[in-house]
Amino acid sequence: MRRTNISAENELGINIKFLTQFLIHPTKIGAIAPSNNKLCDMITDMAELPQISSVVEFGSGTGVITEKIVNKISKDTTFFAMEINETLVEATKKRCPGATVYQSSASNAKKHLEMHGEEGCDRIISSLPWSTFGEELQDDLLETVMDVLNPGGKFLTYAYVPGLVFPSARRFRNKLHEKFDKVTKSKTVWTNFPPAFIYYAEKT
Ligand SMILES: C[S@@+](CC[C@H](N)C(=O)[O-])C[C@H]1O[C@@H](n2cnc3c(N)ncnc32)[C@H](O)[C@@H]1O
Repeated sequence: MRRTNISAENELGINIKFLTQFLIHPTKIGAIAPSNNKLCDMITDMAELPQISSVVEFGSGTGVITEKIVNKISKDTTFFAMEINETLVEATKKRCPGATVYQSSASNAKKHLEMHGEEGCDRIISSLPWSTFGEELQDDLLETVMDVLNPGGKFLTYAYVPGLVFPSARRFRNKLHEKFDKVTKSKTVWTNFPPAFIYYAEKT
């Protein structure tokens, strides 16, 4: 069932906004369309959200994953989303009026967790477009992930199948395997545009 605050007409307008932001900032947005319902459900189901006490989202975009997170966490779970693009922060807030959304880079996650009285978090659900990032930015952001994830915590992020032709995407995959003891891949969501799969990385 589609549970959302947004009507189909408004969804079209939001998707046009997202595409416009992609045309203005292609490497920061990294996709021409928001994730589809199946990918959003898969990443938030894999995160086992009802059982955890803190989750942070990186790159909320139009809030399609944020909305799933809000619907799946328990009422005591600490949750906030981080998004650098002002227009998309507004889109997330509109879709998820009760959610805390910071206009801030994911690299500031530690500071925001501290503001919530947390030293770290149990889950990070990331939509950051890793394959469009240079090596330094990949390293900085992965350092943040390792720094803020609690022991036993899980990092979930997705990658586009066609993107794997890019060396930067393969470099990111290799870095994930270097940093985490265990990294697994979901099956591909072929109906997403572009088709995507999820990396599920466990911190010991
Ligand atoms: C591929 S879009 C995904 C949006 C949405 N979560 C979805 O699944 O449709 C990636 C998002 O990451 C945001 N982003 C890029 N770099 C970021 C950073 N350093 N910190 C926070 N958000 C960032 C972009 O502005 C964009 O909204």
